[in-house]
Amino acid sequence: LEGFFVPKRLAGRKVVMTAGPTFEAIDPVRGITNISSGKMGYALARACVQAGAEVVLVSGPVSLPVPLGVECVPAASALDMRAAVLRALPDADVFIGVAAVADYRPLQASEHKLKKTGEALSIALTQNPDILAEVTALPAAPFCVGFAAESRDLDAYAEGKRRNKRLPLLVGNLVSDGMGGDDNTVVLYDDAGRHPLPRASKAEVARGIVDHLAAMLPPRV
Ligand code: CTP
Ligand code: CA
Repeated sequence: LEGFFVPKRLAGRKVVMTAGPTFEAIDPVRGITNISSGKMGYALARACVQAGAEVVLVSGPVSLPVPLGVECVPAASALDMRAAVLRALPDADVFIGVAAVADYRPLQASEHKLKKTGEALSIALTQNPDILAEVTALPAAPFCVGFAAESRDLDAYAEGKRRNKRLPLLVGNLVSDGMGGDDNTVVLYDDAGRHPLPRASKAEVARGIVDHLAAMLPPRV
C-alpha cells in the first residue's frame, strides 16, 4: 500500500531502463559477463511504477521476479540490449542505464564448443556500443540517467562519466557498498553538485533517486 499514499511524481511519464549484466557468448556454453544481481535496477523499476510511470525494463540475465506493472524485455548480450532499448525508446520521457553492460564481446562466437588443447588460449574481443551514450546523442533524447559502480575514487570517476556522457544526473556507488546485497549507499551527481543519500535498502534508495529525478524533469507538455 505504500505506493498509494505517496504523490505520483512520474504520472504520465514513460521510463525505459536497463538492468542486470549482459552475457557475451564465446561458444554455446561459455561467455563473458559482468557481476550484477539486478537488484538496484529492479528496485528502481518498481519505484518508477509506484510513482505512476509506465516502465519498460530491458533486462540482462538475472534471477529476480519482475515487479508488478513493469514491462520486462529480456536481453542477453549488449547488442540485444541496445536493439531492445532502441525499440522501446519512442515516446520515452526518461532513460535510465542501470545495467552493467560488458564493455567487450568476443569478435566471433564459436558455433561449437571450444576444446581444450593444452596450450594457452587468446580470444579476440571487440568493444560493445555504449547504449547510454547512444541514447543521449539522439536528436530527441529523453532525460538520461547514468549509473557508475566504482571500486575507488567514486567522486572523480562518477562526475567524469556524467560530464563525458553529458548526463543531467548520474548515480554513483562504491562496489563494496552495493554489489549483490539488499542495501546500498549512493551519491547523486548533477549540475548542482553531489547529493549523498543515506545508506538504506535498495527499495528506499530507489525512492530517493525517483524523487530527485522527478524534480529535475522538464514540465510535461
Ligand atoms: N553503459 C551502457 N552501455 C555500455 C557501457 C555502459 O549503456 N556499453 C552505461 C551503464 O549502464 C551506466 C553507464 O553507462 O549507466 C556507466 O557505465 P560504466 O561501465 O560505469 O562506464 P563506462 O563508460 O563503460 O566506463 P568504464 O567501464 O571504463 O569505467
Ligand atoms: Ca563499462
